[in-house]
Amino acid sequence: MCGIAGYVGRRNAPVLLFDMLERLEYRGYDSAGVMFIERGKIRIIKDKGKVREVRARVKPENYSSTIGVAHTRWATHGIPSRVNAHPHMDCKGLFAVSHNGIIENYSNLKKELIAKGHTFKSDTDTEVISHLMEEHYQGDVIKAFRKTLGVLEGSYALAVLCVKEPDRILIARKDSPLIVGLGNGENFIASDAPAFLPYTKRILILSDLEYGVVDKDKVEIFSLSSGKAIKRKAESICWDIKEAEKSGYHHFMLKEIMEEPEAAANALKSSKELRRIALRLKGKKRIYFIACGTAYHAGLAAKYMLESFGIPAEAAVASEFRYSTAGTLDKSCGLILVSQSGETADTIAAGKAARQKGAYVAGIVNVVGSTITRIANDTAYTHSGPEISVASTKAYVGQLVALAQLSLYLAAERGKIGRKELCRLEQELGKTPKRIRNILAGNRIKELAEECADKKTLFYIGRNVNYPTALEGALKLKEITYLHAEGYAAGELKHGPIAILDRDVVVIAIKSGGLLDDKMDSNIQETRARQAKVIIVAEDGGMKVPQVEPLFTPIVNIVPLHLFAYYVSVLKGLDPDKPRNLAKSVTVE
Ligand code: AGP
Repeated sequence: MCGIAGYVGRRNAPVLLFDMLERLEYRGYDSAGVMFIERGKIRIIKDKGKVREVRARVKPENYSSTIGVAHTRWATHGIPSRVNAHPHMDCKGLFAVSHNGIIENYSNLKKELIAKGHTFKSDTDTEVISHLMEEHYQGDVIKAFRKTLGVLEGSYALAVLCVKEPDRILIARKDSPLIVGLGNGENFIASDAPAFLPYTKRILILSDLEYGVVDKDKVEIFSLSSGKAIKRKAESICWDIKEAEKSGYHHFMLKEIMEEPEAAANALKSSKELRRIALRLKGKKRIYFIACGTAYHAGLAAKYMLESFGIPAEAAVASEFRYSTAGTLDKSCGLILVSQSGETADTIAAGKAARQKGAYVAGIVNVVGSTITRIANDTAYTHSGPEISVASTKAYVGQLVALAQLSLYLAAERGKIGRKELCRLEQELGKTPKRIRNILAGNRIKELAEECADKKTLFYIGRNVNYPTALEGALKLKEITYLHAEGYAAGELKHGPIAILDRDVVVIAIKSGGLLDDKMDSNIQETRARQAKVIIVAEDGGMKVPQVEPLFTPIVNIVPLHLFAYYVSVLKGLDPDKPRNLAKSVTVE
């Protein structure tokens, strides 16, 4: 997820665009840049770093132009660097492009363009777009734009400048947001409204597979399929800037929970990298999932997924593993480091120790170019986008979807499942984004939170692949409500914890859609017999989830538990985005 901002009108564009970018920084912040047309040339000023750092370095006030486009990056292809920062230009300086999304066929397009003599400067997928424009341009920039869009696969929100058309910006979108802010004698474009809210609240929404041309007095929109002009009514925004940064949600955490369908869909895009990792793990005798906190719970779920195919695997917290099992590793071992930030000190240390022992190390990471990606032999990105809230939600969903794919591919590599079963399970997994969307659309979680907010302790219980779900549900509640919560293997209740159950305790029982549910039913009866309030996560439970392949139940089961923790936190008058004592990334031991 990146932030795009554009302007055409009477103000000084380079300065205004950095103002606009600062209000989009929650969409991405590893590098930033601005392009504008000055004295008949496209100028690009950009660098690695947060928007304010880049602004101080490139000094936009030293330039003068009334048209430009800016971009703040969340890297997906190509590490954060000056060269990979947007915008990107073609060979001749005719076009410059800023992009938010993933061009899935960029490597083939790049090969074809190089064969035609184009030279590339960056490792990004985006740069192919500027060279395609150059390739397709024969005097009509709109025709060249439509032809370029026609060969792109994947997702994009685009803003393009052409030096031959110095008064207008070309825009297009497919599966990534882009809106136009309508001014008087000036117009704005942005990924999100906060960028231009101080200047206008009148907007024009660009829909998927539409492109447009924006100049200071006019906005034209066209359908990509027909090329025909589309009449689009202007709308008005009622949010203030703070609300708009959260897309109208009160907290980033709720916004990020609502982005879980997109996080699941984006994680599915890393199948190629995950297949490569599965191939490298094929011959490994010992497999370990190593992580901390929420990421550890994802790794533990992956252990159960692999074991369901008869493949032995272990999961361990990095802070323990690095001082114990790491010393027993050798080249017959494979480690999968799971991490949202890619900067967690204990996980990095475990990975380095493993590399020193000759073990194979793979990373399942969200932040492109982070430290773990540099110590791992291979990395698969979850592409969940920036996760601003300290409590991890959408990144966890992205990790689970990536690890579920990895489990399927490794099972296939080892002959545990055939092609037909692999395809069936991949199709099943592919339904996850829609299933999560349905859970978010219809649940009485808020009411359940109201019934539980004053309880003294909550027990989350699950079995097998949902034991990690119980641990994660409890962690989420602890970290943002400060209530006492325990995640427990349901079969363990009888071995002690059941002693504390009474009417002041809530038990959240997480079922697995058939897998061991008869055992879970007995555990539920045991807890009810002690007057505990029981909430069941199941198709017919108090927290409703769809019936899915048991293997994939952790992915859908965690969604109501995220919402539950969020609503309890808000009911207690807390700020779920900034819980006390916690940091987003634990970069020290
Ligand atoms: C998640 O809600 C927590 N903030 C924390 O447990 C986190 O998952 C853990 O610190 C690992 O972080 P990482 O995924 O960036 O490595």
